Amino acid sequence: MTTEVVITATDDGSYRISGDVVVLDAAGNAFPTVAGRDVFLCRCGHSANKPFCDGSHGREGFSAVERAVVAGDQAAPTG
Ligand code: FES
Repeated sequence: MTTEVVITATDDGSYRISGDVVVLDAAGNAFPTVAGRDVFLCRCGHSANKPFCDGSHGREGFSAVERAVVAGDQAAPTG
């Protein structure tokens, strides 16, 4: 059975990955993760535990708030 993997770009923080996922290094070796728990990957570049987030984004003032544009939203009338 395959479960859906969901990646969320959190506001001012990491990528949260939910679902059955394996995180590999460039040599193909798996980083240890805990089954059933979300994985948080660093996207600020400041983690001392890459590729995982260690919370450094908060101390470093990382700022990134992306929103997906949903088809049709741009054509919706406003006001
Ligand atoms: S996103 Fe959390 S330490 Fe980089």
